[in-house]
Parts: sequence; C-alpha cells; structure tokens
Amino acid sequence: MGKLDGQVAFITGAARGQGRSHAVRLAEEGADIIAVDICKQMKTVGYKMSRPEDLEETVRLVEALDRRIVAVEADVRDGDALQQAFDDGSAQLGAVTIVVANAGVGPGAVAPPAEQWQEVVDVNLTGVWNTGRVAIPSMIENGRGGAIVLTSSTGAVIGSPTNYPGMLAYTAAKHGVLGLMRSWANFLGPHNIRVNSVAPTTVRTPMANNGDVSLIVKHAPELANSLANALPVEAVEPRDISNAIAWLVSDDARYVTGSLIPVDAGNINWR
Ligand SMILES: NC(=O)c1ccc[n+]([C@@H]2O[C@H](COP(=O)([O-])OP(=O)(O)OC[C@H]3O[C@@H](n4cnc5c(N)ncnc54)[C@H](O)[C@@H]3O)[C@@H](O)[C@H]2O)c1
Repeated sequence: MGKLDGQVAFITGAARGQGRSHAVRLAEEGADIIAVDICKQMKTVGYKMSRPEDLEETVRLVEALDRRIVAVEADVRDGDALQQAFDDGSAQLGAVTIVVANAGVGPGAVAPPAEQWQEVVDVNLTGVWNTGRVAIPSMIENGRGGAIVLTSSTGAVIGSPTNYPGMLAYTAAKHGVLGLMRSWANFLGPHNIRVNSVAPTTVRTPMANNGDVSLIVKHAPELANSLANALPVEAVEPRDISNAIAWLVSDDARYVTGSLIPVDAGNINWR
C-alpha cells in the first residue's frame, strides 16, 4: 500500500530532472500522473532544454511502476494549453488532488536584458500562477482537499549576488512564488487544500550543469558564495527534493501548510 493510492498528481516540468523524479516518486506511492513539459528550447535559456524523448522516458518509468500517466507537451506560460492538459488528464485518470508546480528555467543565453527578464518571470512566476489557477477550481469543487507544492529555490529567500537581468528575474520570480504559496495557503485552507513550497539548493540536473558547481563558478565566479552549502555536498540529487514533496503531499504532513521547506544542505543558514 502506498501513501498516495488512488490520487492523481498534476506535475509540470516532468520530462526530466526534478519533475521526472517527482513523477516517479509519487507513482511509487501509488499516484497516477499528469505530466506536462514544454519539450522545446527557449530563446534566453543557455543550456539544452528537454525534448519529447525525455517526456517519453518519464512515461516509461511511471508505467514500469504499474501506474497510469498522461503526458502532454504544453508550455506553462500558455494558460489555455495548460487547462486543456489538466482537463484531458483528469478526464482520463480522475480528480486531481496533488499539484506540483515545478517547471522552471535558469537564465544564461546572451539575449537583450528585457527579454531575459520577461522569459524567466513568465515561466518561473506566471507559469506557477497558471499551474495553480487551472487546478484550483476543480480541486475546490471536488471537495476532496489536496496538496499543492510550488518549487522555489534558495534564491526565494536570498538576494542575487549579481545584477544580470536573468538572475534578478530568477530571484524576483522565486521570491514571488512564496507570495503565491502563502496567499493560496490562506485562501485554500478552508477547503482542506494545503499549499507549501520546497526550496532546493543546487540539484544535480541539466539546469545546474548536472551538479558540476566548478563549471558554474568558472562562468560566473560571483555566484561561488551563494552556491556554498553547510553540509559537505555541492549538489543534492533530484530524489532528495522528491522525498520532501512525497512527504508534503501525504497525510503525514496533514497540518503543514503555508510553509517553506528548504532542502538546501544548510545553504540558507550558511549565509
Ligand atoms: N537545478 C537546480 O540547481 C535548482 C535549484 C533550485 C531550484 N530549482 C528549480 O527546480 C525546478 C526544476 O528544475 P530542474 O533542476 O529539474 O531543471 P531541468 O532543466 O532539468 O528541468 C526543468 C524542466 O522544466 C521544463 N520547462 C521549462 N520551461 C517550461 C515551460 N515554459 N513550460 C513547461 N515546461 C517547462 C523543462 O523543459 C525541463 O524539462 C525549477 O523550477 C528550478 O528553478 C533548480
């Protein structure tokens, strides 16, 4: 028996990295999965983004656990496409009780400052708002309660050490995610829907050069201090974040809402 038997989880950015790991971890606990990802390159992102084959791999891994999955290529910036993905997925799998707003981009490519700012804010903040707003009405209507987790970052509580527009946008957007989380926690409390955020330190995913911190620091030495953790580890594994999420969305955390849960190897405390 899993802790999430009979539940359906809507997860964005699920083609790879943390999102794929969350899909697999929640499926291990018995949840069926609606997996959304853009699977395309964006203009101001300086590393390779996911491809359709990545999302197919997430499907394979979830199905190997004997769970059902509906995978949709959609952009979290497009509220209509996201609503369609949510509606199609829940029509096939049942009422959604878990939402993980994980999709995000890190800045990097050379692009005009205003474009860098806009793209990062559009995905990392507006995309999180879109993810909540397509799910919340039916979660309230179904009356089954539920749990929403918004992925932020240590950058949600620490100022950027640089003035690059993309880094400012990343930091501002992740701070904004906490405003959304706290507001939704208040609004949704009476409906027994809990809303929390996880704040990872560097995670071993393609966004962070697969955890190769020396490579990041080579390109942006001013980031060195903000990447230092208290514990002797440079980057945590996606599954470390997934384990926190699996706890947050389960009944074991039934009275946890409006909270920021750092999975940061002591990074925030280290400042
Ligand atoms: N990797 C880190 O060091 C780190 C640290 C703190 C927080 N985070 C956050 O964790 C989350 C997951 O990132 P990750 O580390 O797994 O990186 P990743 O690049 O491996 O995965 C992110 C996924 O989101 C998808 N995505 C990006 N833009 C999208 C859009 N507009 N619509 C739909 N899908 C989109 C990507 O295609 C990709 O599959 C992000 O919100 C990120 O900001 C990452």
